[in-house]
Amino acid sequence: MELFSEERSAEVVTGSFAHTPDPRLKQLLTALVQHLHAFVKEVELTEEEWGAAVDFLTRTGQKCDDVRQEFVLLSDVLGVSMLVETINHRTRGTSTESTVLGPFHMVESPPREPGDNIALDGKGEPCLVTGQVSGPDGEPLAGAQVDVWQANADGFYDVQQPDVQPERNLRGLFTADDDGRFWFRTIVPRYYPIPDDGPVGRLLTSTGRHPYRPAHVHFIVDAPGYRPVTTHLFVDDSPHLDSDAVFGVKESLIRPFPLVDDPARAAEVGLPNPFRTVHFDVALLRSSADDEDAR
Ligand code: BEZ
Ligand code: FE
Repeated sequence: MELFSEERSAEVVTGSFAHTPDPRLKQLLTALVQHLHAFVKEVELTEEEWGAAVDFLTRTGQKCDDVRQEFVLLSDVLGVSMLVETINHRTRGTSTESTVLGPFHMVESPPREPGDNIALDGKGEPCLVTGQVSGPDGEPLAGAQVDVWQANADGFYDVQQPDVQPERNLRGLFTADDDGRFWFRTIVPRYYPIPDDGPVGRLLTSTGRHPYRPAHVHFIVDAPGYRPVTTHLFVDDSPHLDSDAVFGVKESLIRPFPLVDDPARAAEVGLPNPFRTVHFDVALLRSSADDEDAR
């Protein structure tokens, strides 16, 4: 084996992986080493900086437990989660764009009936959400599953406030009707900070970045024979739409939430007047053929 030198460091180390039986693992390790060595050379990394990086990664690992995944949060604030998501779910404008899953889908959403109100804590601006799930040719997807979850009017998920919010507050699993339509009642979510009491939060502070995500409702929409989409519906007048801490915003996912002042309509949908409303159609790709087309 060639001995280590500054000039040929990457070649020496990638050469050590030459006999990796799995070709994909070999490709990943080779590219990783090439990029890491190029980075160290470009910035002339000092030993103190290298030590600080090891310490940071150690603290990131130590912050992880069954409910807290600080490494995913790190990937989120570095834009890596969004890049992986976007590369693996290219749509070329033919279906609803995806965005990050986030850490708060840790409990199953309870099955709900069409029109149910998922806001169990009675706080916030009432809102009517309507939409339709369809396939690539506009075919309505009867029976599609529409899984939704969101933060409350104070910017917290139920799982963050188990002693404050009712269990499964602002979560629901809806089944689309024969025309692929769904509707439910909720409240307008608030923007909120990602968990920032760990090393990732300190990274944001020390780089002058804020930890906020703009207001959104999470969706996972699925139908047999179609590719599920994990996405968000963003509130168009929310702060931080142009500076999401995890880079999750896509223009195509932002919708207006106009105020409706119509007592008859409010009574019809079972909300106090006035109320906000939003319409969010979701288009899915077919699982096989369309998948290949979108790559
Ligand atoms: C969320 O939207 O729930 C989320 C996404 C990434 C990091 C933290 C929270
Ligand atoms: Fe969220």
